[in-house]
Amino acid sequence: MASPFFTFDQLHDFPALTPPARLAVIGDPISHSKSPQMHNPALQACGIEAQYVRVQVPVGQVKQAFGLLVKQGFLGVNITIPHKFEALDAVDVVDPLARQLGAVNTLAIRDGKMFGYNTDGPGFLRSVKEAFGREVKDLRVLIIGAGGGAGRAVAVQSVLVGCKRLVLANRTESKLAPLVAELSAISSAVSFQTCTLDHTDIAQHLPEIDLIVNATSVGMKVEDTPLLATGGLQSRHLVYDMVYRASGPTDLIQQAEQAGARHADGMCLLLHQGAISFEHWFDIPAPLEAMREGLKTAVS
Ligand code: ATR
Repeated sequence: MASPFFTFDQLHDFPALTPPARLAVIGDPISHSKSPQMHNPALQACGIEAQYVRVQVPVGQVKQAFGLLVKQGFLGVNITIPHKFEALDAVDVVDPLARQLGAVNTLAIRDGKMFGYNTDGPGFLRSVKEAFGREVKDLRVLIIGAGGGAGRAVAVQSVLVGCKRLVLANRTESKLAPLVAELSAISSAVSFQTCTLDHTDIAQHLPEIDLIVNATSVGMKVEDTPLLATGGLQSRHLVYDMVYRASGPTDLIQQAEQAGARHADGMCLLLHQGAISFEHWFDIPAPLEAMREGLKTAVS
């Protein structure tokens, strides 16, 4: 199904579509979003007479955009870069997990009231379970890029479920001390360590790590310098690269393949965070296979 694209200004006088537009993803830019190709097949599979559209919303206009979407009869919205933090202050009710993760990526509109959720954290847990058959609570986790928004969400979520050990790595080391203080306040049971992105520094931690998460944008470009030294991975490592590169596997995924290690990429997170959003909107299990097929088609 085609995925219509709208601007913020069009929200004032939204065109009547068939089926009617009831769900949207907002961001800036937004034209690249694969979410419609995942959610429209899900709506069809469940026989819901609605469609999911993309809306480009400039920074600073999120609250206004939400107000207009409520007025136009929308049921739900996904919020992507750079609006996940702005959305936290733009909803009526913030779910406690979203408050703790510091970002809202899903809006559910019920009786004109706006409820904000975060499905990235729970989506990470579900995707690790699906890809590796393991629970994050049982794993020793290394997050590369813990100082960014995505890395922070994965770190907080991992601590909330009580992972066995957490090593936080970031290019800008000064971002790690405040994060460790915040995470220590959530749980004193998890063992925290920090490190730089220096290959030798990371390599020292790998023997005591099960799950390696890349939460940086490194890997999006073919010319990016690899995050890990060649030969650093073992077959027992679980490699989760939040980056998805349409042109082929990232260096990290290739290194995992060479080591015989299991791996997952950004598509896995997109699928599962989307499924949890769908469940917030409709209160029924998401048709995961229809969503997965839709995504596959979108990227092929
Ligand atoms: P977001 O907050 O949306 O996740 P971000 O602020 O750009 O995105 O940060 C993403 C993460 O990628 C950060 O940890 C960032 O490191 P810094 O905190 O040092 O900026 C990391 N990152 C981005 N480009 C990088 C690069 N070329 N090498 C290493 N880390 C990089």
